[in-house]
Amino acid sequence: MNTILVGTQWGDEGKGKIIDILSQQADYIVRYQGGNNAGHTVVVADKEYIFHLVPSGILHKGKICCIGNGVVIDPAVLESEIRAMSSVGVELDGRLMISALAHVIMPYHRILDQLREKKGTHKIGTTGRGIGPCYADKINRCGIRIVDLINPRVFREKLADNLKEKNEIFKKVYHYPGFEFSAIYKEYTRYAKLFSSNVCNIALLLDRAIKEKKDILFEGAQGTFLDIDFGTYPYVTSSSATSGGACIGTGVPPVSIDKVIGVAKAYTTRVGEGPFPTEFAPKLSEIMRQKGQEFGATTGRPRRCGWFDAVMVRDAVILNGITELAVMKMDVLDGVKSVKICVAYTYKGKIFKEFPYDAEVLRSARPVYQEMPGWGKTVNKPRDYVELQPNAKAYLSRLQDILGARIAIVSVGSSRDDTLFISA
Ligand code: GDP
Ligand code: IMO
Ligand code: MG
Repeated sequence: MNTILVGTQWGDEGKGKIIDILSQQADYIVRYQGGNNAGHTVVVADKEYIFHLVPSGILHKGKICCIGNGVVIDPAVLESEIRAMSSVGVELDGRLMISALAHVIMPYHRILDQLREKKGTHKIGTTGRGIGPCYADKINRCGIRIVDLINPRVFREKLADNLKEKNEIFKKVYHYPGFEFSAIYKEYTRYAKLFSSNVCNIALLLDRAIKEKKDILFEGAQGTFLDIDFGTYPYVTSSSATSGGACIGTGVPPVSIDKVIGVAKAYTTRVGEGPFPTEFAPKLSEIMRQKGQEFGATTGRPRRCGWFDAVMVRDAVILNGITELAVMKMDVLDGVKSVKICVAYTYKGKIFKEFPYDAEVLRSARPVYQEMPGWGKTVNKPRDYVELQPNAKAYLSRLQDILGARIAIVSVGSSRDDTLFISA
């Protein structure tokens, strides 16, 4: 069974936790887009692990973890993540594979990302990790791929070409001194040596796995509304975060995909700028942020919080082909007097039942809510779906009806045990 797991909102839905759980049944876990803008949290025995590049299935012994061609790799981050794993006794010996075709994040990508954000005219609130500029170079056909990095002659040429053009731009547009060839060449040549034995043709590796009837789990990063095409452009990331990205970002053909699972928080959060129709007023936002510990796993920035937006998530179900949903962080809504679900928007007297792609409409859209009674504080954590409070079940049942996909998993805490499975 080959399964894609995607975020249905603006990222940070809890994908890492579900990937970790589903990894038990998978043979291969594959990242297919994004880079170290992602922060995927896995909690095991009260210990928290945050993965930025390495797939979140790595804690399971013997599983092969792949970084596909659609990912942009900052080698310094990859090195430190591998080191961190090794320091807690998780050995990667031969089970971390990197696509030769993945693009490499260079120091000038990171700085350009940060300078563009500082300039402020079109601030997106990026993670500042160089993601956008790296993907821009990929599309502009001047990027440096892993296969280029491990070939000293090609790397030297490409780096020199890039610096020639980019240093001019840095100086003239950003009044930044630019970059020196030798320091970057030396640093990146070291990475090339470090990773060369992990580099392979991921598309062929996965093709073999499929022929051997192995199970592949594709780990989406970010979320549907950060997708470069379908998200709230320009307040998006620079990759295809929807399920289609899994094929483009690995070389596995669409016919080999069996299932798409969507992950949604029981409410909504967003980091960075951009429209957010169901955003709470500041006071409630702060209460929920503290209750849900809504601070970015990558940058530590406070996440904006709001009610569940079913218009958005229903759109995500359609765009990704989601048949099963995992609803996360139900425990954070414990004790809330009444809960609201956004079922439509109004704009200039018109009702919008579908997600509007006109940024102007979305910016001023007012949510239409269905209000439902909340549920009390949980004394003992439910260990089975039947133990969940009746009003919590009613909330989930209403979500399921609106969204048009089956809720198969409900999460009531960050650890593996706090997971309720609902059989079909
Ligand atoms: P991802 O990027 O989608 O993997 O999500 P993040 O790791 O950025 O953010 C999700 C956060 O919620 C992490 O701190 C998780 O440990 C935590 N989390 C996941 N599921 C639950 C849950 O059901 N309840 C609570 N309270 N926390 C959860
Ligand atoms: P995971 O995988 C939440 C957001 C940034 C910013 C926008 C563009 O952990 O869910 P970028 O650095 O990608 O150019 O920033 O996208 N963003 C995320 N928000 N979760 C993420 O990843 C994100 N990755 C990027 O905050 O608004
Ligand atoms: Mg995250």
